[in-house]
Amino acid sequence: CKVLLLNGPNLNLLGMREPEIYGSQTLADVVEDLTRLAETFELDLDHLQSNREYELIEKIHQAMGQVDYIIINPAAFTHTSVALRDALLGVNIPFFEVHISNVHARESFRHHSYLSDKATGVICGFGTQGYEFALRAVASKLKNET
Ligand code: DQA
Repeated sequence: CKVLLLNGPNLNLLGMREPEIYGSQTLADVVEDLTRLAETFELDLDHLQSNREYELIEKIHQAMGQVDYIIINPAAFTHTSVALRDALLGVNIPFFEVHISNVHARESFRHHSYLSDKATGVICGFGTQGYEFALRAVASKLKNET
């Protein structure tokens, strides 16, 4: 089975960016750990981080019929992007939404997500471990389906 991991804007700065909020792991560390974990579940993990909304949307379009599950941290696009929501709904691929920080404990503009009501589940506030929880959840969902 195929899983697509998507990370939105500024997550390329992980490890350097506000470490008191986002921790010290870099995105490369996160992706390396997840790729290894995916292998143990016999899942094929593809990853894209982009600061551009259209690149994320194009990647979602390309995933149509190819990818079984999406794990997405839309970063700031969470709170702004109807287009990402429409893309995810358009390809009809189930997805988990992940946030490293507890967005509900932060500024009020972070409390609303354009994706959460359509996500299978939302994980936030567990640091970068949230990605691992999401991948484990994907593995058990896909296992129950087959
Ligand atoms: C984030 C939370 C968003 O509000 C913020 O814009 C991000 C990262 C998180 O992972 O905690 O860039 O999605």
